[in-house]
Amino acid sequence: MEVMTRPLISAKLRERFANAERVVVLTGAGVSAESGVPTFRGGGNSAVWKGLPFDVISSAGMLARDLPVVWEWFNYRRGVLATLKPNPGHEAIASWEKQFKEFTLVTQNIDGLHQAAGSRNVIELHGSIWRARCFECGARVQVSELKFDDSVPVCFECGGHLRPDVVLFGEMLSPGAFEQAAAAAGQCELCFVVGTSAVVYPAASIPEIARTGGACVVEVNPERTPLSDLCDEVLTGKAGEILPLLRTEGSRQKAET
Ligand code: APR
Repeated sequence: MEVMTRPLISAKLRERFANAERVVVLTGAGVSAESGVPTFRGGGNSAVWKGLPFDVISSAGMLARDLPVVWEWFNYRRGVLATLKPNPGHEAIASWEKQFKEFTLVTQNIDGLHQAAGSRNVIELHGSIWRARCFECGARVQVSELKFDDSVPVCFECGGHLRPDVVLFGEMLSPGAFEQAAAAAGQCELCFVVGTSAVVYPAASIPEIARTGGACVVEVNPERTPLSDLCDEVLTGKAGEILPLLRTEGSRQKAET
């Protein structure tokens, strides 16, 4: 007896993908999981470092109490990330940038793997582990330009203390990032939500804004999330295996004309 397997990518979604002009993609830690980046949640457990849960060590409270330990945590994570490469999920998303008239990539990730895969216009809602920011003057600097000895790095401009340019728990997002993402979500026809547990706001409201704007919302995740019921299509599986399946001749021809 032949077992009929439902194609993972429906004909309807292929057609929408081939004909869409305005597309938004929201990604979370799951898109980097196949590159070896540990996720925060999912799989029933959450990250801990030196006995401290990640949402404690990555918090405004810890920053105020112990800046050196916060640098130690991000230096450790940067050390892990420095050895990792983008995966086919990142690469597929990077290839989409040229295929659509308006394409907006919004990420919660601070790992820079989208850019390493070739994505250019990335809205980093939660900042970047590769940058530092001055408490005093707000100047931003690439971490690669900093020397880490025993003390906390200082600002080249004003001598103030530098901190990781990452949005910590209890902190507001950088002005403009969310607004830009929300504006694109409100206008898009197709919104992909890839590798996020959809529990952290305001990022998790992006697909809701897209849905309210009439967009088709597609989730890619091996697990169900609080967002799954809101989605038009739920593609259950790994981003690196599913996203490369979404390459349609039609959309490639459109990009070249
Ligand atoms: N492909 C797609 N999704 C995956 C994969 C994969 N290969 N592996 C795991 N996932 C899914 C998990 O099932 C989970 O739903 O990715 C999700 C990861 O969820 P979180 O770890 O909660 O990450 P994220 O949603 O990005 O967290 C949001 O919280 O910790 C803060 O600031 C941090 O940006 C982060 C925010």
